[in-house]
Amino acid sequence: MNRWFEQAVVYQIYPMSFNDSNGDGIGDIPGIIEKLDYLKELGVDVIWLSPVYQSPMDDNGYDISDYYAIHPMFGTMDDFKRLLDEAHKRGLRIIMDLVVNHTSDEHVWFKEALKGKDNPYRDYYIWRQPNPDGSAPNDIRSVFSGPAWQYDEASGEYYFHMFSKRQPDLNWQNPELREEIYRMINWWLDLGIDGFRLDVIDHIGKDVDQKIIVDGPYLYDYLDEMYERCFKGRDILTVGETPGSTVEMARRLTNKERPILSMIFNFQHIGLDEIPGQGKWALKPLDLRDLKRVFTNWQVELHDLGWNSLYWSNHDQPRIISRWGDASTEENRVRSGKMLATLLHMMEGTPYIYQGEEIGMTNVKFPELSDYRDIETLNMYKEKREQGWTHDQIMTSIYAKGRDNARTPMQWDDSENAGFTTGTPWMKVNPNYKNINVKQALADKNSLFYYYQQLIQIRKQERVIQVGTFELLEEDHPQLFMYRRHHANEHLLVICNFVGEEVNVTIEDHDYEMLISNYEDVTINPEMTLRPFEAIALKYKE
Ligand code: NOJ
Repeated sequence: MNRWFEQAVVYQIYPMSFNDSNGDGIGDIPGIIEKLDYLKELGVDVIWLSPVYQSPMDDNGYDISDYYAIHPMFGTMDDFKRLLDEAHKRGLRIIMDLVVNHTSDEHVWFKEALKGKDNPYRDYYIWRQPNPDGSAPNDIRSVFSGPAWQYDEASGEYYFHMFSKRQPDLNWQNPELREEIYRMINWWLDLGIDGFRLDVIDHIGKDVDQKIIVDGPYLYDYLDEMYERCFKGRDILTVGETPGSTVEMARRLTNKERPILSMIFNFQHIGLDEIPGQGKWALKPLDLRDLKRVFTNWQVELHDLGWNSLYWSNHDQPRIISRWGDASTEENRVRSGKMLATLLHMMEGTPYIYQGEEIGMTNVKFPELSDYRDIETLNMYKEKREQGWTHDQIMTSIYAKGRDNARTPMQWDDSENAGFTTGTPWMKVNPNYKNINVKQALADKNSLFYYYQQLIQIRKQERVIQVGTFELLEEDHPQLFMYRRHHANEHLLVICNFVGEEVNVTIEDHDYEMLISNYEDVTINPEMTLRPFEAIALKYKE
């Protein structure tokens, strides 16, 4: 089996916010087609499309009402096929989002299920009797606030939803449901798509009675079955979104002997600025040593045995420069963005770039709650207010962690609405689009865009980046992230100053070749003073 994804770089598109071709304020598939040459120029190999299926859009398409249809606001099935063709013509592959932990409440299965306990589709979902006092079967909470159980008056039972109440969870223990899902997966693969990103896939083995959601007792059985029935022998990339993942889970799922999934998304690194156990809104500063520990564990434990994904950002995460870089000055925005990119792209794994990351888009601070669109944010606001948080406290959390930070429209140029739409955008554009946009980035040879382009090219040329072993240096240093990679007689030294101050570093004496750096005038010495956010990748042979 050709493991092409090991040399690929993936670009994630959030279709609603990428490019609007028809002026309705919402990004669409023809809009994506218009930008394929741009992505080709960046040098990525694969496009991951967030959901474009039929959906009432309660959670922006992660609530699917028809797995076989494209939402009209994104275009038609013919548009989708054209996208696939146009991408393939350019040597780009397309993977789709696969959301099978839950459906929309408007999916025909759920509509049928609501008809009564005898309906054949009833058991496609998870129903439980109330407690004798009428309360919900247990106290599991939904990710989008409130209880994970919704009472259905008509039948007197509760159904389970890990996300919004309009996203009822599917009952994977039902074999017919599993058959329907495999049929649908194969239908898309037979159409010619190149793989899937599997939404919260570590939830499907859950046991709600035991209150085990992630990594539940049936997880490996179902995923193994899915592999056997759908993925095995196909030339595809599969990446599992696994919020509860551990390195052990990754070793088991991505094992090269039987790669049930090509790779999974580790969440451990992006949870490091949360107060443990208090959820994503309880903020704490990142300790760089924690980040080093997490990355090292994944790099070392998966080497040779499985495969890593590498990412800083996606449509659920704040923008990485605002989060762990520095967006406060133009110089630091670009410098820290390049440093973070270097740190990630020199590791082993498949890198993912989220739309706008390649031009250094940043978080947004809308003063009004009414400018926010995300169901998670809006529900959380209500809940925290009831719990006594002040408006300002909540807004501070939203500015830091809200998912809409990543979902503001893509900034193409400095014209009205950043060139995203000629109409009224479904969500406001980040006001910094006048300075931060694709047009500007393409005109500046020192831009982040060209830096990402260079990182992608270097990865393709250097075997040591693709497959070298990982060795962390300066483990306890609070400001420096430094590591080496080794492959045969080739070695890579990556030095990243994670902070906006000077930091001294001592490096071994070798005959270094500079692969990339984010300052122009770099002199390599055994004793060096790194400048703010300086990043250097060096190669040597011995
Ligand atoms: C993870 C997706 O990335 C997120 O956007 C969505 O809200 C949940 N899963 C539920 O599908």
